[in-house]
Amino acid sequence: MAKQTWKPGNMIYPLPAVMVSTADKEGRSNILTIAWTGTVCTNPPMAYISVRPERYSYHMIKESGEFVINLTTKKLARVTDYCGVRSGREVDKWKECRLTKGSASSLKYAPVIEEAPVNIECRVKSIQELGSHHMFLAEVTAVQVDEAYMDEKGKFDLDSTGLIAYSHGEYLDLGEKLGTFGYSVRKKQTARKPKVSGGRKSDAKNAGRKRSDVPNKGRRKSAGKKRTTARRKADR
Ligand SMILES: Cc1cc2nc3c(=O)[nH]c(=O)nc-3n(C[C@H](O)[C@H](O)[C@H](O)COP(=O)(O)O)c2cc1C
Repeated sequence: MAKQTWKPGNMIYPLPAVMVSTADKEGRSNILTIAWTGTVCTNPPMAYISVRPERYSYHMIKESGEFVINLTTKKLARVTDYCGVRSGREVDKWKECRLTKGSASSLKYAPVIEEAPVNIECRVKSIQELGSHHMFLAEVTAVQVDEAYMDEKGKFDLDSTGLIAYSHGEYLDLGEKLGTFGYSVRKKQTARKPKVSGGRKSDAKNAGRKRSDVPNKGRRKSAGKKRTTARRKADR
């Protein structure tokens, strides 16, 4: 296998291309697109974004200590790109992109983007001046998810939101599902035979059904309002 060795550079792909919304303390707000982002800790939930100090948004994030990571979808791909090639110094990206400011549930200044299916509200804990980019390390203080993507059992179906990825300069949709977490070691489920007598009634009722088919098994009930504040428990 012939390989080329390149000079050091950033080659961790795919990544999300998220729209980050932020505001200063005087109420000016803005959106910028960020690919240098990720999760860094499960508990407490923490995330980072790396931002060049010359960005218009940089001082807003620094001043208010708040930002929201808004996940992007196929529908939002164009505006995601636009918010990454135009500066808030010159244009009002909210207006140009017809995006709606919504209230964060845990932040004072930074708004959420209503059109994004998931809004991850973040409060800055520290700033690492790494070089070209400064990394804002932040605690996730709330997550809003759009109830339009809740299935009939009250489970949030992230896949159906149409998330996109960013890879080596290209926006891509996510393609086919290959497996689920731990599928490589999971035993194949064999259908249980219903017991005629003895055993619990529910065993017989649910025999032969997958766990995901069983109502209320590992499902969260919908909170009954449009947007829900959610915290994930799975440690991955
Ligand atoms: C796909 C994509 C990813 C980007 N990722 C980053 C990033 O991680 N950090 C950053 O500082 N700028 C990034 N940018 C550039 C900024 O989004 C861009 O300079 C934007 O115009 C800054 O907006 P502002 O001046 O209104 O803050 C990215 C742009 C695109 C299109």
